Amino acid sequence: MSTFTVVTRTGQIMPIEGRDGVSVMEHIRDAGLDELLALCGGCCSCATCHIYVDGEVNDRLPPLSVDEDELLDSSDHRRAQSRLSCQVRFKPELVGMIVTLAPED
Ligand code: FES
Repeated sequence: MSTFTVVTRTGQIMPIEGRDGVSVMEHIRDAGLDELLALCGGCCSCATCHIYVDGEVNDRLPPLSVDEDELLDSSDHRRAQSRLSCQVRFKPELVGMIVTLAPED
């Protein structure tokens, strides 16, 4: 099974079995990591699912939408690798991806 890795805010490393077409946010939530709030449930309206994605897969990620870009701008912790995890759906090309939970705003 395809896997990717999540690094929590405390540095815990969790391998996750990637499910094709399922958002990274849902994977993290299903793994029981409640530190990712994801308050809007994946509607791209809260920015509480902020992650940093390992730069090596950045060219395989879907492009940022205007809404995602604007929401990320509202974060004090935005970096070049920032994404909203509800907007990134796992696909086989993302095997080996490492995502780190961004600090809470
Ligand atoms: S869960 Fe709200 S923007 Fe991702």
